[in-house]
Amino acid sequence: MTDFDPLVFSGIKPSGNLHLGNYLGAITRFVEMQKTHNCIYCVVDLHAVTTWQEPAELTRRTREVTAGFLAAGVDPEHSIIFNQSQVHQHAELAWMFNCVARMGWLNRMTQFKEKAGKDRENASVGLFAYPNLMAADILAYKATHVPVGEDQKQHLELSRDIAQKFNNDFGEAIAASGHGDTFFPLPEPLIGGPAPRVMSLRDGSRKMSSSDASDYARINLTDDADAIARKIRKAKTDPEPLPDEIGGLAERPEAANLVGIYAALADHTKEQVLADFAGAPFSTFKPALADLAVAKIAPAAEEMRRLLDDPMHIDSVLRGGAARASEIAAPVLNDVKRIIGFIS
Ligand code: TYM
Repeated sequence: MTDFDPLVFSGIKPSGNLHLGNYLGAITRFVEMQKTHNCIYCVVDLHAVTTWQEPAELTRRTREVTAGFLAAGVDPEHSIIFNQSQVHQHAELAWMFNCVARMGWLNRMTQFKEKAGKDRENASVGLFAYPNLMAADILAYKATHVPVGEDQKQHLELSRDIAQKFNNDFGEAIAASGHGDTFFPLPEPLIGGPAPRVMSLRDGSRKMSSSDASDYARINLTDDADAIARKIRKAKTDPEPLPDEIGGLAERPEAANLVGIYAALADHTKEQVLADFAGAPFSTFKPALADLAVAKIAPAAEEMRRLLDDPMHIDSVLRGGAARASEIAAPVLNDVKRIIGFIS
């Protein structure tokens, strides 16, 4: 088995508002991981267009996600930050993977079923092939670790299956090209952190999502202090006070979600939060949560606004990142082409 240098890759789609789920499930972990690893963070605009995006909105949101990375503390001098469409190797490798992955594998993807809904016939081909592009994102860099929220687990498993099948199908050519017995690493999902699954503020059984029709379901990173407080005040709860132990949250998804958000923002365990608020009604807990959320998110929102006032700077960060990313991906793609048997 070949050894691979640890390398982190992750991405965020610029197709909706950046929200608290993205922040706690992904961005805060991106910031942590860059302390110990080489990291590549991508604004995945090619993924965004698997559903319709107004062109000007796509541009704006691509800059907004980039500003979100920077405002949260991702360091563009150390980590690579870029938008996917500037590095053509993603699309190229995705095509090869379209020919490696099997229809049956993709047919099992629950996110496609959810997103396509009843109107499958009308979904774009890109939406169906989406997980192959995700595998290409990661493997174009031979990345080994992928921090994501829980909703991406199945896609990551597919990436591993694709890597494994490529390694097996082309085993002889891989060995002949001097790459030992393994060309691609099997990327490891890093799902965890304090909030791998932040739920909607309106329905504790659905994840917080940028595609939710109600803006009250989520806290956007660009929300101001009033909006954050209002959304938390209106968040769905139940009439019971907070319990004194985790078991007491078992059948209370909305309460469990708010306690989880508090714990993640305060960098405490849920047990610590319950120790502080045992027996408290939501009329006490919600204002405390709102204060904490404002204290944590408002400075990032402020910094995002400042960065967005200078789009040229954001674009130059993306261009610089894309140049560095291409340097890593280009030789990998050259090897892939040789292994497959393409003349170059
Ligand atoms: P996306 O853009 O939907 O979400 C970006 C990241 O945020 C996490 N996330 C959440 N975490 C906790 N609670 C939530 N409610 C929540 N909502 C979103 C996601 O799990 C993700 O980590 N396909 C991916 C983007 C992608 C990618 C990649 C990720 C494309 N290529 C390669 C990793 C590696 C997506 O649509 O994420």
